[in-house]
Amino acid sequence: MPTPQEILDELRKVKYPGFTRDIVAFGMVKDVQVAHRGTTVLLTALSAKPEVMARIVEEVKAIVGAMPGAPRVDVEVEQARPRAAAQAAPAKSAVPGVQRIVAVASGKGGVGKSTVAVNLALAMRSLGWRIGLMDADVYGPSLAMMVGAGETVGLTPERRIVPLTRHGLRYVSMGLFINDQTPVIWRGPMVAKLESEFLFNVEWGELDCLVLDLPPGTGDAQLTITQRVALSGGIIVTTPQELALLDVRRGVQMFAQVGVAVLGVVENMSYYVCRRCGARHAIFSRGGGARLARELGVPFLGEVPLVSQLREGADQGRPLVAAAPNHPVAELFKSIARQVVVQLGDPASPS
Ligand SMILES: Nc1ncnc2c1ncn2[C@@H]1O[C@H](COP(=O)(O)OP(=O)(O)O)[C@@H](O)[C@H]1O
Ligand SMILES: [Mg+2]
Repeated sequence: MPTPQEILDELRKVKYPGFTRDIVAFGMVKDVQVAHRGTTVLLTALSAKPEVMARIVEEVKAIVGAMPGAPRVDVEVEQARPRAAAQAAPAKSAVPGVQRIVAVASGKGGVGKSTVAVNLALAMRSLGWRIGLMDADVYGPSLAMMVGAGETVGLTPERRIVPLTRHGLRYVSMGLFINDQTPVIWRGPMVAKLESEFLFNVEWGELDCLVLDLPPGTGDAQLTITQRVALSGGIIVTTPQELALLDVRRGVQMFAQVGVAVLGVVENMSYYVCRRCGARHAIFSRGGGARLARELGVPFLGEVPLVSQLREGADQGRPLVAAAPNHPVAELFKSIARQVVVQLGDPASPS
């Protein structure tokens, strides 16, 4: 009898009708159970129309039924159940002129989420896309430093915010408008609400993709943003420690809850390259991120090593991909960007 993992792998052949992406990548497969009586595949309906769902169910039955040793296949479909808060939330809006929005999330701070966001944004730009970068991590103003933004933001006559341009990226942070006197109530979900409004008041112009550096964590504040903004996909940044990896599950769940496909997991600070001998040293056990991504059915985008140039560049407002585009780690970010861009080639979300 095939194992649940083998069945899950097989289910990747089922494309979401009208898309090149498969139902596993869309987060539609909730569970696969194998018992003597037969195999049960639990799907979540996301926003699919009934006729689309019926086609998917037929294909799942056919493909699993054709596996050697697969006895009987049951497919159960549950309606995606938004949380109570999600039901009350307003409909997701698109940002005019912005083709796609990708959110970069992490379970906690300090894993390199902003470092990945800025270098990924630059790498996507090097592939020819028009990219914007929004720092939604108001209380960790690292991004402003990383892109070397120090000046004030301009306003159009209609009082819309004009983003700064840095290294060819259009960049804005609500942090630029927050100072020491800003009231403490500007925290958590409240800030998240303001942030998503803020996003719509920026004169982005035409963008192929806006990269959103979410605040660290996968709680209500992050959920609020993902609910309000029409996202094309999410990226999860983690480090190889067990605890950080655990958070990846929460990240995947958060995006699944709002029906957003996870474009992949990036493992940062995966290993250390010795400056003298060039050998790679693992600091934590290797391969955890890739294994977990496989288990959760989301793409693994790559392992970024610990390199001092990543931090030094960030501190000087010269991110690595802009400062040293031929550095092996810059090439690595370009490979991650290619995988993201290929996935985003599709329309924003299933209808
Ligand atoms: N791969 C890396 N190699 C070296 N330093 C890194 C790497 N990734 C992040 N850093 C450094 O670690 C610190 C935290 O990274 P940051 O991107 O600000 O994390 P987060 O946004 O998750 O809080 C920063 O000083 C950054 O320059
Ligand atoms: Mg950050």
